[in-house]
Amino acid sequence: MTMAVHLGPMERVLVQQILDAQHASGAYPACESFSAYKGYSWFRDGSFIAYSMSLVGETESASKFHNWVASAVTAWSDRVDGLLGELDGGAGPSITGMLPTRLSLQGEEVSEGWWNHQVDGFGTWLWAIGEFVEKGDEVPTQWIQAMEVLGRYLCGFGSLPCYDWWEEHIDQIHSSTLGCVIVGLRVVERTQGIDTELRDLARVRAEELFSILMNEGVHDGHLTKWLGSDAVDGSLSALIAPLRVINPRDPLSAQTIEAVTNDLSVGGGVYRFQSDTYFGGGRWPILSAFLGLAQIEIGNTEAALKCRDWIRGTFEEGIPEQDSSMLLAPDHLDTWREKWGESAHPLLWSNAMYLALETRLQEIGVSHETVS
Ligand code: BGC
Repeated sequence: MTMAVHLGPMERVLVQQILDAQHASGAYPACESFSAYKGYSWFRDGSFIAYSMSLVGETESASKFHNWVASAVTAWSDRVDGLLGELDGGAGPSITGMLPTRLSLQGEEVSEGWWNHQVDGFGTWLWAIGEFVEKGDEVPTQWIQAMEVLGRYLCGFGSLPCYDWWEEHIDQIHSSTLGCVIVGLRVVERTQGIDTELRDLARVRAEELFSILMNEGVHDGHLTKWLGSDAVDGSLSALIAPLRVINPRDPLSAQTIEAVTNDLSVGGGVYRFQSDTYFGGGRWPILSAFLGLAQIEIGNTEAALKCRDWIRGTFEEGIPEQDSSMLLAPDHLDTWREKWGESAHPLLWSNAMYLALETRLQEIGVSHETVS
């Protein structure tokens, strides 16, 4: 999957920041300079970072991350069986027992004090493995074992309510989370070496979840923030690209992109959702990158370039989690600053998604522009 990507000065800084920050264990920290994230690696952030790092040719770095995840996950095999047993027994498993959302950089589980139980990251990791492994390549045994553990977990728990990409609304089933679970299960289904019964089950569950998404996660022709809602969320673009849960040619793709653009995008920057108050609710570079990637898939290169250029404008020794101009809820900014200090910068996931967008633009022949 390595391509001849041209990295300009800015892109080289972004890649180097990720390489420098990667822990010896293989973990990608979310942001070491931000108090609330320091010392932790999220499955969600890390999987997208690994994806982008292999796109820019840093496959060894991506492979180290995957090894790190695989070694943590294989140790959870009995625990997952126990949780599935509780489910079969009719009792809903307790949230505290569910698999963690983030790990310490050493790979330890520190679940207290965070919004645990977010299943999207496991689906995204499976998807990232599917992207990483070249067709026909043998998948390392430990990765297969980890994929089986997470495959079983997602077959059992992938459609239960849980926290979303933003670690909110545990009472809902979120469309973006479902999308991540679906693509993860699709990878389990097609991976040689995984137990065949599990592969069959993954296919059935992926199809079931896809019909739930189509029946309950669509309003007025576009995907919705959660099942039964009529609102959109900036994360939905990811289901079109790079995750490809939805075929870009399906009108649902264009209509979702249109709804996200109309409701959440200003000048190429994208808000998470309308009522966001986190650090005042600014526009998030990762979401512009996802929107840009989705726009490319439906042929709107100009719109994708607008997203790319907006993200470049946020660059200042790396790309931040969010841009602090044009806040949706400026009155909330100080409260967060008092609590946790300045918001995350650079956020390694932001660096990574910009790199993914830039790589894709180069792939379709849009030339690279350097920053003076
Ligand atoms: C975001 C998550 C992200 C985490 C680490 C949280 O504020 O809501 O999506 O995974 O930060 O970057």
